[in-house]
Amino acid sequence: MKKVNVIGLGYIGLPTALMLASHGVEVVGTDYNQSLVQTLQAGKTTFEEKGLDELFGHALDAGIRFSNEYETCGFYIVAVPTPYDPDTKQIDASYVVNAVKTVLEHCEEEAIVVVESTVSPGTMDRFVRPIVAAQKKHVHLVHAPERIIPGNMVYELLHNSRTIGADSPEIAEQVGAVYSTFCEGEIVLTDIRTAEMTKVVENTFRDINIAFANELCKICRRDNMDVNEIIRIANKHPRVNILSPGPGVGGHCISVDPWFLVGDYPEEAKLIHQARLVNDSMPAFVVERIESIAKERGVSDFSRIGLYGLTYKENVDDTRESPTLQLLEHVKKSGKKMPFCVYDPYVTRDLVEGQMHDFDAFLDAVDFVVILVAHQEIRDSLSRLNGKIVLDTRRVCEDDSVYRL
Ligand SMILES: NC(=O)c1ccc[n+]([C@@H]2O[C@H](COP(=O)([O-])OP(=O)(O)OC[C@H]3O[C@@H](n4cnc5c(N)ncnc54)[C@H](O)[C@@H]3O)[C@@H](O)[C@H]2O)c1
Repeated sequence: MKKVNVIGLGYIGLPTALMLASHGVEVVGTDYNQSLVQTLQAGKTTFEEKGLDELFGHALDAGIRFSNEYETCGFYIVAVPTPYDPDTKQIDASYVVNAVKTVLEHCEEEAIVVVESTVSPGTMDRFVRPIVAAQKKHVHLVHAPERIIPGNMVYELLHNSRTIGADSPEIAEQVGAVYSTFCEGEIVLTDIRTAEMTKVVENTFRDINIAFANELCKICRRDNMDVNEIIRIANKHPRVNILSPGPGVGGHCISVDPWFLVGDYPEEAKLIHQARLVNDSMPAFVVERIESIAKERGVSDFSRIGLYGLTYKENVDDTRESPTLQLLEHVKKSGKKMPFCVYDPYVTRDLVEGQMHDFDAFLDAVDFVVILVAHQEIRDSLSRLNGKIVLDTRRVCEDDSVYRL
C-alpha cells in the first residue's frame, strides 16, 4: 500500500489519517499549525469526538507520524478549510491552492493528489488545474468530498458511501482502493465536476429543508399556531417528512456550502439563496422570542437570562458559525443591552462575554434559560429547570409549560 500524506489535520483530516493508519496504510499527517502537531505528537487528540481517542491509539500503535512538513510520496489527501468570501459569497480557494502548490514542490512524479475539502463546482478546473499545468511534474488530481457528521465521525467514516471524482477510471479505482482499506460503504466513481457539485448539492438540500421548517415556524408564530404539532401531523402523510425548526444553522458545511452556488449562480440559485436568508434570520427571531417572553413574564434584568449551548450542534465542541454566536453577534450589532449569561459544557475556553464554566453556577445565576443546543447534559438535567422560565428551541423538553420558538 502507498504511503499517504494527509495535509490538514482538522475535523476531517485527522480522523481520516487515523483511520487509514489503523487499517495498515503508512500515514504521515501534516499541518501548518505547530501547536496542533505538538499536541498530536504528545499523544493527545485535538478535539472531542466519539471514538476518536480509541482510533488515535490504534493509529499510534500502527506507526502514524505527525509533522509540520510535507513528505515526498505518491499519494496526498488535502483536507484544508474552504471558507467563502463574505462579500462575493464565492469560495475562498486559497487554502486548497496553497496546499496543492506545496504538495507539488514535494511530490513524486505521477503522484495522486486527492482534494477532500468541499469545493464549489468548477474549483478544481479554475483554481487547481492551472497551478498543476504551470509546472513540469505530472500529477493526477482527484476530488473525494467528505460527508461525515461531527458527533458520529468515526462510525460514518467506516460506513458512509463515498464519492470519488477523477479524470480517468483507472485513477478513480486506485483512489477507491486506498479508501476501501477502511470504508465499508459504497464507493462511487465519477468525474471531478460531478463530485464537486454532488457534495454542495447534498448540503444545500439539507439547508433548504431546514429553512422550510424555520419558515413554517415563523408563520405559525405570527398566528399562534403550534408548529411542532402541525409538523407532527403533516408527517403522517406517507410522502411528507418536514424537519424541525431551530435557532439557526451553524457548522462548517450546511451554513457555508449553499453560498458557493449562490455566489457562482446568482441568477439561478434563488430558492437556495432565500433558504440561506431564512436560516440566517433565525438567531434574530430567537432574540425577538426572548424579548416577548421576557415582557410577558416581567423579566427586565437580562443578566438573569441564560443561553445554554455555544456549539453549532449537540455533544460536539465545534462552535463554527454556531447559532448562539450568530445570536450574540446580532445583539451586539443591533446595540441591544442584553448581558446574557452563556454556558456550554464543551466550550472550556473563554469565547464570549458573560460566559460561565460551571453548570451549577450558571443555573444559580439565571431565572430564564434559553436552550440553544440539545447537549446530553441538559437532556439529563431537565428537572433542574423546574421553577425557571424556559425557551426550548430544540424540543428537548416534553413539558408543555416551556416556551417554544
Ligand atoms: N468539519 C466537518 O464536519 C466537515 C464535513 C465535511 C467536509 N468538510 C470540509 O473539509 C474541509 C476541512 O474542514 P475541517 O473542518 O477539517 O477544517 P479545520 O479548520 O478543522 O482543519 C483544517 C486544518 O488545515 C490546516 N491547514 C490549512 N492550510 C494548510 C496548509 N496549506 N498546509 C497544511 N495544513 C493546513 C489548518 O491548520 C487546520 O488544522 C473543508 O473544506 C470543509 O468544508 C468538513
